Amino acid sequence: MAVKTLKDLLAEGVAGRHVLVRSDFNVPLNDAGEITDPGRITASLPTLKALIEGGAKVVVTAHLGRPKGEVNPKYSLAPVAEALSEALGQYVALAGDVVGEDAHERANGLTDGEILLVENVRFDPRETSKDEAERGEFADQLVALAADNGAFVSDGFGVVHRAQASVYDVAKRLPAYAGYLVENEVKTLSKVAEAPEHPYVVVLGGSKVSDKLGVIEALAGKADKLIIGGGMCYTFLAAQGYDVRESLLQEDMIETCKGLIETYGEKIVLPVDLLAASDFDSSKAEIKIVELDGIPEGWMSLDIGPETVKKYAEVLATSKTVFWNGPMGVFEQEAYSKGTAGVAQAIIDATRDNGSFTVVGGGDSAASVRTLGLDEDGFSHISTGGGASLELLEGKELPGISVVQA
Ligand code: 3PG
Repeated sequence: MAVKTLKDLLAEGVAGRHVLVRSDFNVPLNDAGEITDPGRITASLPTLKALIEGGAKVVVTAHLGRPKGEVNPKYSLAPVAEALSEALGQYVALAGDVVGEDAHERANGLTDGEILLVENVRFDPRETSKDEAERGEFADQLVALAADNGAFVSDGFGVVHRAQASVYDVAKRLPAYAGYLVENEVKTLSKVAEAPEHPYVVVLGGSKVSDKLGVIEALAGKADKLIIGGGMCYTFLAAQGYDVRESLLQEDMIETCKGLIETYGEKIVLPVDLLAASDFDSSKAEIKIVELDGIPEGWMSLDIGPETVKKYAEVLATSKTVFWNGPMGVFEQEAYSKGTAGVAQAIIDATRDNGSFTVVGGGDSAASVRTLGLDEDGFSHISTGGGASLELLEGKELPGISVVQA
């Protein structure tokens, strides 16, 4: 990619300079507010360490969740500051605001090699505003945090598909560079987007067909097989005429799914059996494997069945490239996790046994790999981006990338 990278910035020298870094610390939290998967924090470390070692005064911006422009302690970056301090082995101060007095005082007080995290940028409504002037005003205030000969490093790959102030507008106001994470993600995902070795198999899960429609249409042309699982497979099954009972269903998308099945035929691979449950909560549920037309009245399907896993694994075994986004079932509950675990294992096997180049894209899929205790090194690449990796594969232009392009 023709962009200036962190390597270029380090070669120019960062000692004593303020460097504003956009990271993606949008990590999952449990009810107690604890981070359940620190993958995105771990992935940010190479860039941050390089800047610290180079003697920069590092000011990091990030978002957590969607607080909709209001200060909400539930979305504070406090757990991130703590986890980051631990991971870096160095104290990371958290400013009490985003671009207020505290952030400015702390940013001004940084000494070489110190790091400051400002509060959730989405506490300020201007971050995500559609009005360029509003975003610009906020970007100016973020840039003011980098007063000493400032530079900007774009390292929040998961958010580069958003034209938001801390991602996009700041990069227009400071010398801008792609961080190691963004550089590596773009290099790897471009390989899949531009020249995938065939057979190229795309595995899509997740809850809504409408969210993935663009991806399905863009990738159906490029991929040899499109395996569908997760919440969205039930709309496809309904399109085939099955009664999916209480399973997740997007009724307004049934006709669209019919059209996709007609257009792409055998290319779209759908479940052949299901795991049905009498209750969403597995501790209260009666659970059984059923045929596609066998979901009992009042029950729902929450995972793909074992025959489906077998069928998907056979397709994956012949692949030379795999892109996987979205779990196959409600993997957070052990009883509904076998489909996701089985497909993930089949992708790992294809990597090892068939030399397939395998990429896991997306927050949930990446988290499921770690939650299920699967071998992270078994995949060729685990992306930190959900929407961002999908949009890159769709061939869309990503604002946070194009803005750092030389
Ligand atoms: C993500 O989790 O995919 C990124 O952090 C972007 O978050 P968003 O979808 O709320 O913009």
